[in-house]
Amino acid sequence: MSRVYNFSAGPAVLPEEVLKEVAEEMMDYQGSGMSVMEMSHRSADFQKIIDEAEQDLRDLMKIPDNYKVLFLQGGASQQFAAIPMNLMKNKVADYIVTGQWAKKAYQEAQKYGKANKIASSEDKTFSYIPDCSDLPISPDADYVYICENNTIYGTKFKKLPNTKGKTLVADVSSCFLSEPVDVSKYGIIYGGVQKNIGPAGMVISIIREDLITDDVLEGTPTMLKFKTQADAGSLYNTPNCYCIYVCGKVFKWLKKMGGLEEMQRRNIEKAKILYDFLDQSKLFKGTVVPEDRSLMNVPFVTGDKDMDAKFVKEAKEAGLVNLKGHRTVGGMRASIYNAMPKEGVEALVAFMKKFEEENA
Ligand SMILES: Cc1ncc(COP(=O)(O)O)c(C=O)c1O
Repeated sequence: MSRVYNFSAGPAVLPEEVLKEVAEEMMDYQGSGMSVMEMSHRSADFQKIIDEAEQDLRDLMKIPDNYKVLFLQGGASQQFAAIPMNLMKNKVADYIVTGQWAKKAYQEAQKYGKANKIASSEDKTFSYIPDCSDLPISPDADYVYICENNTIYGTKFKKLPNTKGKTLVADVSSCFLSEPVDVSKYGIIYGGVQKNIGPAGMVISIIREDLITDDVLEGTPTMLKFKTQADAGSLYNTPNCYCIYVCGKVFKWLKKMGGLEEMQRRNIEKAKILYDFLDQSKLFKGTVVPEDRSLMNVPFVTGDKDMDAKFVKEAKEAGLVNLKGHRTVGGMRASIYNAMPKEGVEALVAFMKKFEEENA
């Protein structure tokens, strides 16, 4: 078996320990005589899996009792519609557009009501987070929306926006469980799991209970109504059972590693290795203003498309894969999620140094 260092933005690297455990349980999950893939979602075995996954996530994030945890399908993109459908009572919402994903959410919301773009960083290719201390929040806004970590551009809100009392909704797909978080500051905090948590095919939405009601926009599909899913404990229909199982394993791994404080310490340490190198490199350059840099997604360029392509190709040959930047921005991007070991980042930096010397 030979494993690479996988810098993919998602689906992404998972902890090897978890992969080994699920492989061991593949044919016979804990004496059940079957794989979790073959198990009824109504069985006692599966109920225990989903209950434990929820409890472990609650422990990790210290989720208050007045929040529901929903394991849903349709990915983060489905929430772009579900959120306005469930929350737009006044049919008004304010969006802070800091990248493609926030923009997509903003565009989707326009189908359901008046979505206002109250701030944006598009003027500088989303390379920074705008000042959100005193934005023109709409008096009748049902919520204020952010994408907290911008996967494509590598920026992160280090401080949450001042929503002037309005409900904050945040897409945390690419920074989920990367550091401690105060859930009580959000109305909804949600993310696709395929970056920092598990396999693709699921979104976890953590929603304050007062936002889960029957008062949704007319025509909201049953499946997209938060109340349907909350009342059924995420088991209204057949959920992504196997994904829930793997995510549950990752939650246990995170607890064993020391929880979110320890993940934050490790993530700061790992990101520093890469950013410190970029800051002194003569060939490579980070693309984000230092104060808004993400710990999870690190975009960088040489300034020469051919050189970028040569780097990505040679890195791949050296076992450092998926370093090509997003198709809309080019260059390179290293995603260094929780499961990327420090050794992977060190190997990347060592390779970049060598490449720089060879291509001086
Ligand atoms: C921040 C963010 N939001 C949303 C998405 C879309 O997620 P999904 O593919 O689960 O719909 C992605 C990435 O794929 C993302 O990085």
